[in-house]
Amino acid sequence: MPALSRPAESAPSAPSAASLPWGRHYLAVEPTHFRVEYVINPFMDPADQPDRAVAFRQWHAMVDTLRGLGAEVDVLPQRADAPDMVYAMNLGLGWVDAAGERRAVLSHMRYPQRRMETASAHAWLRDHGWRTSYVGRDGVGPHLEAGDAFAWRGDLVVGYGPRTEELALKHLATDLGVRVHGVRITHPGMYHLDLAFCPLDERRALVCPSAFDEASAQALLDLVPEPVVLTEEEALTSFCANSVVVGRTVVMPACPGRVRGLLEDAGFEVVVVDVSEFHKGGGSIRCLTNPVDLVLGRDLEPVVGGEVLLPA
Ligand code: ARG
Repeated sequence: MPALSRPAESAPSAPSAASLPWGRHYLAVEPTHFRVEYVINPFMDPADQPDRAVAFRQWHAMVDTLRGLGAEVDVLPQRADAPDMVYAMNLGLGWVDAAGERRAVLSHMRYPQRRMETASAHAWLRDHGWRTSYVGRDGVGPHLEAGDAFAWRGDLVVGYGPRTEELALKHLATDLGVRVHGVRITHPGMYHLDLAFCPLDERRALVCPSAFDEASAQALLDLVPEPVVLTEEEALTSFCANSVVVGRTVVMPACPGRVRGLLEDAGFEVVVVDVSEFHKGGGSIRCLTNPVDLVLGRDLEPVVGGEVLLPA
């Protein structure tokens, strides 16, 4: 990939930025039926099944770690016929609206193998006081997978290409009344934005430019004042962008020494939790947890009618 220019202000900085105000309340799905049953990403191989007991222990250790850091984790039961449902990040995009009401846009999964997951998530959310909506459903309308969507500095950043379709960005912008920055994902191994982008605080995010086409990689680097840039190898072999941040603690599946140094210099503490059994399905810590405490008017800036910005 050609050299990408960085914003002038991305020089190593001393002043520490405000922590993310979201990331203290998650949904997760207990892995009672986790298997690799089909192949919808390059990591999946039905000949290499997760060890059920080890996966269960790893998942509980992850949840205990998040709770130990003060985060709330609500647990949904896994459907027996939905082996990928453990990757709760993809169930939908949740937020709290200006009136304080809990809202969620349910995902419309690209692959039919995962579509039944949202029916269960929908019922659970409704029963727990959420108002739900869809941008597409049952194969009709654009695909949206919530692992492609993050709040970033007042707007949403949404990846499209392998899973989410560009048209979904328009719906999200209008339905939430926010600005959406679209970034086109081109790397087959980083098929969701959460495999290549992780907001860390109000100025910093992990970014793996190799996941995107050149214009999108540049657009994303331009959106992040102090990007912590990951190599393709770091993002792919250690899933290190697929991490979760609670305050100043980054909970990571693995952390290459170089990345740890950058994070610690920026005032973060790194906690590594092994969720290797889940890598067999193509997801890690972020995929297993879905943050639902975004607040419209705090983390997302209302924009009348919504707006989509795509890289040139
Ligand atoms: N097997 C799942 C799929 O391909 C993995 C999902 C990973 N989740 C994520 N948020 N990146 O859909």
